[in-house]
Amino acid sequence: MSWKSIVLAAALAGAAPALAEEGAHSQPKPPRQQWSFAGAFGGFDQGQLRRGLKVYREVCASCHSLSRVAFRNLAEKGGPELSVAQAKEIAESYKVKDGPNDAGDYFERPGRLSDRFPPPFANEQAARAAMNGAYPPDMSVLAKARGYSRGFPLFLADALPGFSYQEHGVDYIVALLEGYTDMPNGVELPPGQYYNVYMTGHRIGMPPPLSNGVVTYDDGAPQTVDQYAKDVSAFLMWTAEPHLEARKSIGLKVVGFLIVLSFLVYFTKRKIWSSVH
Ligand code: HEC
Repeated sequence: MSWKSIVLAAALAGAAPALAEEGAHSQPKPPRQQWSFAGAFGGFDQGQLRRGLKVYREVCASCHSLSRVAFRNLAEKGGPELSVAQAKEIAESYKVKDGPNDAGDYFERPGRLSDRFPPPFANEQAARAAMNGAYPPDMSVLAKARGYSRGFPLFLADALPGFSYQEHGVDYIVALLEGYTDMPNGVELPPGQYYNVYMTGHRIGMPPPLSNGVVTYDDGAPQTVDQYAKDVSAFLMWTAEPHLEARKSIGLKVVGFLIVLSFLVYFTKRKIWSSVH
């Protein structure tokens, strides 16, 4: 067997299940977006994270919790980088359950910097009861929890620096938010279900959350579904990976260090072995 036929056989073996899968769900792949945080040198766009936070608070927060994010995180480096006063103001706009007090009662008080975003529903059952049985997942790590396999041979490219694609999750969220279309003929959906091209099986229990103009931006960015979808997805990338910027800069330093080290090792080896003939 020549190496060419081996490569061809491997390619076919990789492609066959991918094709079969595509036929079963006929789900298009989410289009790839341009993100400031992609690539080895990428970082978040603070303006975008602030707009995304606004979209989350004004739209998504009525159904989705964000239980791992504390208000103080909003003022930390590598995130939306609000001032501490702004983060405090946001915290105080929420009511947080606390207690028991000296009388043994639970009570509500305004949020503090150390509190996390309070959930919109008391528990999963309450959420399902309000949403026709569907459960809006917690958003903290959603951008990392959703993704799809690119299949052979692209997953090989993902292992190479410079080509790697780590934005499946955010691309999927953008596509989902923009993926509501009219039902194709013949598709019947039960009440409380909506047709979405990018959802598995095309049905989703989330009504289309965005429409043009629902959130007011004060920095002049377009107030469109497309812009909202990108901003809130970028924000969710940050909540899922708050230390992305630090991770990338450490990664670059480590690679630089390894390059220097390999030169040192190489010349040391030459020196040591130069006396052996
Ligand atoms: C009216 C309530 C409601 C609002 C508002 C809402 N969602 Fe949802 N969302 C849901 C429900 C319910 C589900 C679960 C759907 C299902 O499993 O069929 C869901 C699921 C999702 C999913 C997961 C889809 C999957 O792959 O399982 C994403 C992503 C999502 N929502 C993003 C958002 C974003 C971003 C916003 C704000 C722009 C938002 N949602 C606003 C109710 C809501």
